[in-house]
Amino acid sequence: MIPSITLSNKEQELEHLVVVVSKLSKLPAGIFNSAEKKYLKNQIENHKKEVVSFNRFDYWVFLCFIKEEKDSSKRLESCRKAGDTIAGCLNAHKALRVAIFDVEGMCSEILAIAEGMALGSYQFLKYKKDKDNENTLKEIEIYSKALEEAGMDQPAEDQGKNIPHAASRVIRPAELNILLNAVARCRDLVNEPNSHLTAVSFAEEIEKMAIDSGAVAEILNKQKLEALKMGGLMGVNSGSTEPPTFTVMEWKPADAKNKKPFVFVGKGVIYDTGGMNLKPGDSMLNMKCDMAGAAAVAATVYAVAMAKLPVHIIGLMPATDNRPGMKALVSGDIITMHNGMTVEVLNTDAEGRLILADALSYAAKFDPALVIDLATLTGAAVRAIGKFGAVAMQSKAAEELETLKSSGFKVYERLVEFPMWDEYGELVKSDLADLKNLGPSEAGMITAGKFLEKFTDYPYIHLDIAGPAFLDKRDSYRGQGGTGYGVRLLFDFVRGVLVR
Ligand code: BES
Ligand code: ZN
Ligand code: ZN
Repeated sequence: MIPSITLSNKEQELEHLVVVVSKLSKLPAGIFNSAEKKYLKNQIENHKKEVVSFNRFDYWVFLCFIKEEKDSSKRLESCRKAGDTIAGCLNAHKALRVAIFDVEGMCSEILAIAEGMALGSYQFLKYKKDKDNENTLKEIEIYSKALEEAGMDQPAEDQGKNIPHAASRVIRPAELNILLNAVARCRDLVNEPNSHLTAVSFAEEIEKMAIDSGAVAEILNKQKLEALKMGGLMGVNSGSTEPPTFTVMEWKPADAKNKKPFVFVGKGVIYDTGGMNLKPGDSMLNMKCDMAGAAAVAATVYAVAMAKLPVHIIGLMPATDNRPGMKALVSGDIITMHNGMTVEVLNTDAEGRLILADALSYAAKFDPALVIDLATLTGAAVRAIGKFGAVAMQSKAAEELETLKSSGFKVYERLVEFPMWDEYGELVKSDLADLKNLGPSEAGMITAGKFLEKFTDYPYIHLDIAGPAFLDKRDSYRGQGGTGYGVRLLFDFVRGVLVR
């Protein structure tokens, strides 16, 4: 559980308090005495602190100082990080509740601080008996005249109704709450080890998310996948003792603003041993994260449905583990995919593109306006840009990718575009089959994207999230382990449909 965020207009009681200002001259009268003001001024001006804290009796007071920063993306990110720092301190002091006081009407900044506090309080303690270090923070209350006046105290379901146009660009606390809970559910799924998650139980978890949110889920089982001739998914699954699944999750509200749906496809490799091309040494560590794309897609549909956004979206989540069982694929095998194309499997560790290719060709039946896939697809993407963003590529969706990139800056799940040049496509053509699943050693994230593109004929965006999906070391509110990367990005993109 992460703390909830609510907008409050009740009289303030004495409780842990965060005061947010952009200038020292704005320090509200009546909250700080002159000694405190002097201390705050010194910490901010001379020690360049952005968060200053002190305690009064049994509660803590934080001053969050928003430095001048013209780039709103960077400014909001510092707010999230400040929120994480504050939450760390509050949790260390076993605080249950905190109030954030908006002095200057900085709506987005206040919400970003709350966001960082909530996400930074996330923990995965399911398998720990000793819960002494469990975070205590449960409630984040925002006191903001500006948010109230903008009608932001409305419940999430009223999206688009009676809300002034401009105000709806800012996410409402009720919606933010839904979104952050979806991120936490995504992280939970990614952090779940293979010993406790199979393709079948993963599909059942997604089904639960559909039931909770009012979306519709359908699980295609092994028999159905055989009938659909999903040779990629079946091929990868052939070394496993657990059957594969393919979950379709749909949110189709009667008042949808889009005629054709947005389809999101997520790589759901429950665990990637590499298959017969077994991953060597440490490289198998953390491969429970290989379903992070599918988890992000499920959590996005869940969040959009929970918030009742009037946008028609569909999530496709092919799932299996990749293991070197007796019937596993071996190098040189040729498989026939859902769309009839043949693929020479040169490396069983390049399995993600095989299961995604089937899902992408299946996506065509929904006549999509746009398909976006999310996949922990290549080590090459990690080597190219590290953990601070995802690799993006597009075909027939240049404008859509620009929009998605700006969502990326806004929520700080940034994207770096790589090319879909034809020459890279030549590198995955096979002598024996239509395609091969392995390109040369260079530009691996691009040849993987080109491979996938062959299974699409609609506007398409490919996101390789192998870098940012999972962190070995804690990084502020992104946490340690599964980050939930992609959920806030896609949610903002979907929400954007309503204000674009
Ligand atoms: N799941 C891995 C990619 C990955 C690497 C995810 C690091 C997260 C962190 C993927 O299935 C894989 O093994 N890719 C291979 C492809 C290669 C054999 C063409 C890789 O990148 O090494
Ligand atoms: Zn692999
Ligand atoms: Zn993989």
